[in-house]
Amino acid sequence: MPTPKITVLFYTTYGTNHAVAAEAVRAAEAAGAEVRLRRVRETAPDEVVKGQEAWAAQVERMSDIPVAEPDDMAWADGYFVSAPTRFGVVASQMRAFIDTLGGLWQSGTLADRTFTATTSAQTLHGGQETTLFSLYVTAMHWGCVLVPPGYADSVKFEDGGNPYGWSGSAGELDETARKSIAFQATRLVEKTAKLIG
Ligand SMILES: Cc1cc2nc3c(=O)[nH]c(=O)nc-3n(C[C@H](O)[C@H](O)[C@H](O)COP(=O)(O)O)c2cc1C
Repeated sequence: MPTPKITVLFYTTYGTNHAVAAEAVRAAEAAGAEVRLRRVRETAPDEVVKGQEAWAAQVERMSDIPVAEPDDMAWADGYFVSAPTRFGVVASQMRAFIDTLGGLWQSGTLADRTFTATTSAQTLHGGQETTLFSLYVTAMHWGCVLVPPGYADSVKFEDGGNPYGWSGSAGELDETARKSIAFQATRLVEKTAKLIG
């Protein structure tokens, strides 16, 4: 059985989605995947980033994580994507990276890969579902196989119950959030293994 290759792709300003990505990496590796952790490039001007202590500190915290390149998408059999909700859709930094993938899409390289997504937002009805939908719409354009968590594990009845992907409030992840993210990442690996097997 071939080892599934998973790219965990994230954007964060304050760290929530970095923590989500780290948990996804841990779980995906435990499930037997080879994993690349990649952050998308910051597009906000330097003076804006440096103007907010928390933002600048987060950039420093993840400075050792490689910036995502199109090759990280070509390499993987499946994608775990995590990024904040911004005005009801995904943060523009993530979209900026996605918009560099036209060539890979055109060559059919992104087709038949698995895809799952998670997000965070400030408020309960702040747009988590629309953010996840916006990512899944893109994944459908690529011809990916969507792997949402649904309610396929009992943790989905404890974590706020978003069947489209884990979503939660910005800030530290609690134990239930970690379990749910781990479930979603493990499920991605298992479905990817079946697809490439
Ligand atoms: C420009 C901007 C727009 C935002 N829009 C929303 C929103 O529509 N709904 C919401 O609940 N939170 C919104 N937020 C809060 C972010 O979702 C929150 O900061 C993010 O989930 C934190 O994730 P991070 O720690 O990974 O950066 C917004 C934040 C910013 C800076």
